[in-house]
Amino acid sequence: MAKNILITGGAGFVGSHLADALLAAGHNVRIFDNLTDQVHHHGIPEYLPEEAEFVHGDVRDSGAIRRALNGIDVVFHMAAAVGVGQSMYEIEHYMGTNTQGTAVLLQQFLQRKSRVEKLVLASSMSIYGEGKYLCAQCGGVAPQLRSVIQLRTKQWEPNCPVCSEALTPVPTDESKPLQCSSIYALSKRDQEDMCLLFGRTYALPVVALRYFNIYGTRQALSNPYTGVAAIFASRLMNGHQPMIFEDGRQLRDFISVRDVVRANLLAMESSQADGIAVNIGSGEPISIHEVAAELAHAMDAELPAELTQKYRAGDVRHCFADITAARKLLGYTPTVRFADGLKDLVQWLCSQQPQDRAAEAVAHLSEFGLTA
Ligand code: UD1
Repeated sequence: MAKNILITGGAGFVGSHLADALLAAGHNVRIFDNLTDQVHHHGIPEYLPEEAEFVHGDVRDSGAIRRALNGIDVVFHMAAAVGVGQSMYEIEHYMGTNTQGTAVLLQQFLQRKSRVEKLVLASSMSIYGEGKYLCAQCGGVAPQLRSVIQLRTKQWEPNCPVCSEALTPVPTDESKPLQCSSIYALSKRDQEDMCLLFGRTYALPVVALRYFNIYGTRQALSNPYTGVAAIFASRLMNGHQPMIFEDGRQLRDFISVRDVVRANLLAMESSQADGIAVNIGSGEPISIHEVAAELAHAMDAELPAELTQKYRAGDVRHCFADITAARKLLGYTPTVRFADGLKDLVQWLCSQQPQDRAAEAVAHLSEFGLTA
């Protein structure tokens, strides 16, 4: 049956793809977005589907949220400020939008006469901090975040907290104790805790999807705090070398926005993951250096990436997903291979003219002592 669905942040990268998929499945979609200038310099993006109702508003505005919730059955909460580095010096903005914005949304759930049926939250792998590791001597260990001294002396790998030996990164599952390494992560953990707690208290089915590194078409290319694939693409398109922090061997898990959309639909339709947080990634680790190389190859760009051997405050060394829970509970299987997802991305890039603002972002980080 057709549902009335609200997507906060629905003009953004993931939200807009989700809107398309929900409309195609016959649902009614309302998009709520503040069209933040950092992402949407030209106002309403041209890709926004006309069949969706668009409401311009900010998640911190209770009146606007109250009106946006009118008649809604299901909410996808995706509105958020999303830069790890930027969050370290725009603390008020990040906590305001992400933590306070979610508080406003939940408060307004209580003001409604009828209940919302379901809430799906965009959570993040950032709340794990360092991923899981295995020590040959000590077994599974959870190293602390790397210290500034360690980063300044360019010892990139975390060592075993018990015997100090080298570690092997392994897939991170949902039982890994959380350890926030940035204000962004902290605000995402707040969102997750608040939504799940609210769900338990008021018997609202809530699913938190912990996204790993999402890439794909519509990622904000001119936003220097967006995901690394878009930043690298924007550098290459402007004839600049991608700048790789550390030595490029840090591992991440890249997941196509198309798979993320599928995960959201499954989370809405299934009740198996209600009340919990679930990883959504590809389950395949890839180094940032490989990402740069594969992207350059797909774009036919000759420029090799620059290994800066500099750190960025808030970054973890390795983190990639164990997706057993999503497979089991949601029936989720990633379907887009990285090489194919990149082809998609590159085809879209041909129609774009991004401004490369990466150097500007690095200058900001430097100003606050957040990179060296
Ligand atoms: C972070 C969050 C993730 C969030 C995403 C949104 C963590 C652990 N994860 O991912 O939850 O959804 O941001 O922004 O906090 N890099 C470069 N050169 C660049 C930019 C980045 O080498 O120009 C490197 C970073 O140092 C990092 C890797 O690429 O090692 C990935 O960076 P990024 O795309 O920002 O994502 P995460 O920090 O992994």
